[in-house]
Amino acid sequence: MTVRAIVLAAGKGTRMKCDLPKVLHTIAGRPIVGWVVKAILDAGITDITVVIPPDSDAVAAALPDGVRSVVQHERGGTGHATRIALEAIGDVAKDTVLVIAGDTPLFTSATVAALVAAHRGPATVLTTRVPDPTGYGRIRRSADGVVVAIVEEKDADDTTRAIDEVAMSTYAFDGASLAEALPKLGRANAKGEEYLTDVVGMLAPVAGFDVADHRETLGVNSHDQLAEAEALMRARINLAWMQAGVWMQDPATTYLDATVQLESGVRLLPGVHLEGSTSVGGGAVVGPQTLVVDSTIGAGSRVGYSVVRGAEIGEHVEVGPFASIRPGTVLRRGSKAGTFVEIKASDVGEGSKVPHLSYVGDATIGEESNLGAGTITCNYDGRQKHRTVIGDRVFIGSDTMLVAPVEVGDDAVTGAGSVITRDVSPGALAVERSQQKEIPGYAARRGRLDESEGE
Ligand code: UD1
Ligand code: CA
Repeated sequence: MTVRAIVLAAGKGTRMKCDLPKVLHTIAGRPIVGWVVKAILDAGITDITVVIPPDSDAVAAALPDGVRSVVQHERGGTGHATRIALEAIGDVAKDTVLVIAGDTPLFTSATVAALVAAHRGPATVLTTRVPDPTGYGRIRRSADGVVVAIVEEKDADDTTRAIDEVAMSTYAFDGASLAEALPKLGRANAKGEEYLTDVVGMLAPVAGFDVADHRETLGVNSHDQLAEAEALMRARINLAWMQAGVWMQDPATTYLDATVQLESGVRLLPGVHLEGSTSVGGGAVVGPQTLVVDSTIGAGSRVGYSVVRGAEIGEHVEVGPFASIRPGTVLRRGSKAGTFVEIKASDVGEGSKVPHLSYVGDATIGEESNLGAGTITCNYDGRQKHRTVIGDRVFIGSDTMLVAPVEVGDDAVTGAGSVITRDVSPGALAVERSQQKEIPGYAARRGRLDESEGE
């Protein structure tokens, strides 16, 4: 028996009140529809068709390879969307067809697999009990407990509206029964749409499959539901990492994209955001108040009160507080980017330090060098960027301006406050500053002036 999945994701998402298609809003870095597709894939179902709205190339692009997408040109309802998907799939007479709403990101693969395993007969409807059933289709059961119909809120009377067992737009169907029922759907209802829920009425009595934890079924229709889903997903992700040996001081303020990788023994302090392809090695301490995007942080490093994007941070590196590490930066083992330091597209060698108030851009720094407070690589001449190359064991004096392109050789030193415009030879001291002048008796003279002013 083949299982084919259809994901309904062509709704306009009008309640989101913004231009981005609803299912492309992200939760823990992954689009809503991506979560649904992943749950299906993780349940071992690989034949997936996603029904998307017109002009939504972005939705199609967000789908993993091998997932089929079909455009629903008019919003004809959930039944219409399913019919269009079946047309694209072809003959499903011998298959089980799983239909799942594209806006329920919290569905687990375990629930998807359990629904498919429990499915018998013409259809199995996924149901759950919710504290507030407003807006959902209500499950009507017969006296002996089987599902006989799903009644939409807009078409329900008061007794039906009081039912707290609801449908989640998720079903397993016998392919032949579904293909036979769909063309019979009409649009004589409150919304004027083909309701997939009516197929259940046609095929009834059918089985209900109850999801014990109704939070799994939360549908995202508005920004407040998006935030709610995000919080639930965050709790789930954080719990999994804590169970894998990650030390998290305050899970409520720890934000980890689903794509992040952590080794056991990582310590995360409050206010940490790890995004994209970020990975953190064992024993590293990240936070508090730190954003890391698409970067690696090596074992034993410390990154606090800082922003790191597209960077590679080696082992036992110290970053922050208040450092901005920008794309293309490599901080090698034992190096340091300290307080109020910005580093961009630069390679900082093993054991080299940039401890205070510096800008380092388009630079290569060797090993065991030290850049004094206030060092700046002047990499931009208003038209082009130029490189600065600093050797091993170099000592750059405080407040040195390195006007690129410029190269400072191994073991060289620059005097504090120098503007270095020419290459410095290995082992040399380069100083560029005017002679210090001294005006004797200045304080006494100023004292006299102050007195005369007071007269
Ligand atoms: C639907 C169900 C309702 C259920 C609720 C929650 C119907 C008639 N009603 O109502 O019983 O309680 O979901 O899951 O099925 N979609 C399309 N094309 C369309 C219309 C919708 O692809 O023409 C997609 C949407 O993108 C969404 C899903 O189907 O992912 C459900 O649509 P939505 O508009 O949210 O349906 P509800 O009115 O909430
Ligand atoms: Ca100077």
